[in-house]
Amino acid sequence: MSTVVVFGAGGRSGRACTLELLDAGHQVVAAVRDTSRLSDPLDPRASVVTADAFDAESVAEAAGGCDAAINAVRLPGSIRADRLVTLDSSIRRGLADAQVARLVTVGGAGALHLSSGERFWQHPLFPVTTLPRGIAHALLRDHLESGQPDNLSWSYLVPPPLFTPDGARTGSYLSHPPGVAEEEHLDRSVSYADFAIALSDSAVRPGPSGVALVSGPSGR
Ligand SMILES: NC(=O)c1ccc[n+]([C@@H]2O[C@H](COP(=O)([O-])OP(=O)(O)OC[C@H]3O[C@@H](n4cnc5c(N)ncnc54)[C@H](OP(=O)(O)O)[C@@H]3O)[C@@H](O)[C@H]2O)c1
Repeated sequence: MSTVVVFGAGGRSGRACTLELLDAGHQVVAAVRDTSRLSDPLDPRASVVTADAFDAESVAEAAGGCDAAINAVRLPGSIRADRLVTLDSSIRRGLADAQVARLVTVGGAGALHLSSGERFWQHPLFPVTTLPRGIAHALLRDHLESGQPDNLSWSYLVPPPLFTPDGARTGSYLSHPPGVAEEEHLDRSVSYADFAIALSDSAVRPGPSGVALVSGPSGR
């Protein structure tokens, strides 16, 4: 049994992976910014703590005693391009202080590489409303793949553009290796519930650090 701290635990991905981990018999520390602002109660099996993921000290406090962390934070609005790198660095500092060895991050489809040499956020099909997050995810992926100065083992799991909050849990998923032409991922889909299984597996069964493209079991 592992203990996993989930940042963004009150959000859709955060709730889905909390449920997945708990149902698999793991312990979850559900880190939220403000319990009074939660739309629905959190799973009573989780230990709830308050933490702002931009505050490394509160990250360290939340993560104390945990084996792994999941970053399921979504920064809304018109964020600066480097904002997710800043967030990642703050989480990493906190995890280092708490001696947590593993970080799994929910990625963004904007970071996908197209054979044209562009990223998906640069493609006309990329939704304008989420453009700042698409750019920020591409920058974060590049930052992670460029090599990290710390010893943390990490995974950045990229959902397809069709990432459905209310989609069914089939109970399985596919993990595809990254490449220079990742167009195939644009035609895939995954429910939040199945993606959460990949997050949970990656947190408690760590493999080598890197990027993986995660889809539903049909590959479509
Ligand atoms: N197809 C795609 O590529 C795709 C589609 C959707 C999402 N995504 C990515 O998936 C990830 C998770 O998205 P989601 O849909 O699960 O988001 P969500 O439902 O909006 O939840 C986001 C959570 O992040 C929390 N949060 C925001 N700022 C925080 C901070 N400074 N510290 C701690 N928590 C903070 C929010 O808490 P508060 O309530 O306190 O604000 C909220 O609970 C994001 O990285 C997003 O970009 C990718």
